[in-house]
Amino acid sequence: MSANTSNTSKIPVTIAGTGSYLPERVMTNKDLESIVDTTDEWITSRTGIKSRHIAAEGESTSDLATAAAKNALDNAGINATDIDLIIVATITPDTLTPATACYVQHNLGAKSALAFDASAACSGFLYAMEIAQRMISDGAFKNALIIGAEKLSAFTNWSDRNTCVLFGDGAGAAVLTRGSADTGRILATEIGTDGSQSSILNIPGGGSACPTTIDNADQKLASLAMQGREVFKLAVNAMKRSAESVIENAGLNADSIKLVIPHQANLRIIDAIADRLTIPNEKVFVNLHKYGNTSAAAVAIALDEAHREGKFMRGDNIVLVGFGAGLTWAAVAIEW
Ligand code: UT7
Repeated sequence: MSANTSNTSKIPVTIAGTGSYLPERVMTNKDLESIVDTTDEWITSRTGIKSRHIAAEGESTSDLATAAAKNALDNAGINATDIDLIIVATITPDTLTPATACYVQHNLGAKSALAFDASAACSGFLYAMEIAQRMISDGAFKNALIIGAEKLSAFTNWSDRNTCVLFGDGAGAAVLTRGSADTGRILATEIGTDGSQSSILNIPGGGSACPTTIDNADQKLASLAMQGREVFKLAVNAMKRSAESVIENAGLNADSIKLVIPHQANLRIIDAIADRLTIPNEKVFVNLHKYGNTSAAAVAIALDEAHREGKFMRGDNIVLVGFGAGLTWAAVAIEW
C-alpha cells in the first residue's frame, strides 16, 4: 500500500531548522574484529561502513533524541514552548509505553506539545515528516518537532557478525513550521508499506508475540535479525520507485535536483539507486562510513549534516528517500 501527495498542502510547510546528536563513543571496524569473526576489509567492501557511534550504558534513546531536538530548535530559532507537536520515529524506544516522545516533551519543557512515536523502522523519520506536514497543512498545528532516534546497540546480538557490524546509535531532528511565499516548502511526499515481508527484517522477541522469559533470554531474540540479500534487492527497488514518484509529482528532474539524501544502510545500495535514478554520485549524500546504519535516525542525521555543510541552499530542491523493516518506504521532495 502506498500514498502520495504533491503540492496539496492547504498551508505550505517548510523546514525551519535541523539538528543531530551522536553519542561520544566511536567503535571502529578494527574494534569489531576483536568481538566477532570479521575484518575491516569485509565490512568496508560489503557495506562502506568504517565506524559507528555507541551510546553509553545510561544513555537512552530519549537522551539522544533530546540532544538532537535542542540542536534543531537552536538552528530554527524556535523555543520549545512554541512547539505544539513532537513525533519521535524509533524502533528502540526507552520503554514500550509511554512513547519516547513523552520523555522528550518533558526533557525539553515543551508543555504545549502533543507527543507520540511513529514506528516505521528506517523510513520512520520520513513517515514522521509526512504526518507532521499534513497536521500543519490542515491548520491544526503550527510548529512540529520530528526526530529520528535510535539506540540500536541495545537491540543488537553482539555475537552475530551478520548484523552487529551494520548498526549504530544516534539521533537527528527537524523543526517543521508553516511556510509562506518567502520560504521553501515540502513539494511532494510518498509513503508505502508491504506487511507481507515483515519476517525478513525484524526484532522477533521482546513483544507480545514472543515475550522475553527466563527460558528464552539467552537466545537473544530481542535483537535485530535480517535476511540481508533479500532486503538488499527490495531496498533498491522500493527506494528507486519511491524517489521517482516524488520527483515526478514535484515536477523535478535529475538536473533540477541539488541533492539526494538516501537512507544510510549500505554504500552499494546507495550507488545502485543513484545509478537507476541517473543522478551523479556527487549529488548523493553519504555519511554511513562514520555512523553505520542508524535506522530512523539515518536520514535525519544526514539531512542535518548536509544542511550544516552547505550542500544545499535556500531555493535548492532536495529529495529524501528511505526504506526499512515492515517493509516500509518513503520519499519527500523539498524546495529548501
Ligand atoms: O536499514 C534497513 C535496510 N537494511 C538494508 O538495506 C541492508 C541490506 N543488506 C545488506 O546491506 C547486505 O546484504 C549485507 C551487508 C547485510 C550483507 O552483504 P552481502 O553481500 O549480502 O553478504 P551475504 O549476507 O550474502 O554474506 C556473504 C558472506 C557469507 O559467507 P558465505 O556463506 O558466503 O561463506 C557470510 O557468512 O559473508 C559472510 N559474512 C561475513 N563475513 C565477515 C556475513 N557477515 C560477515 C562479516 N564479516 N561481518
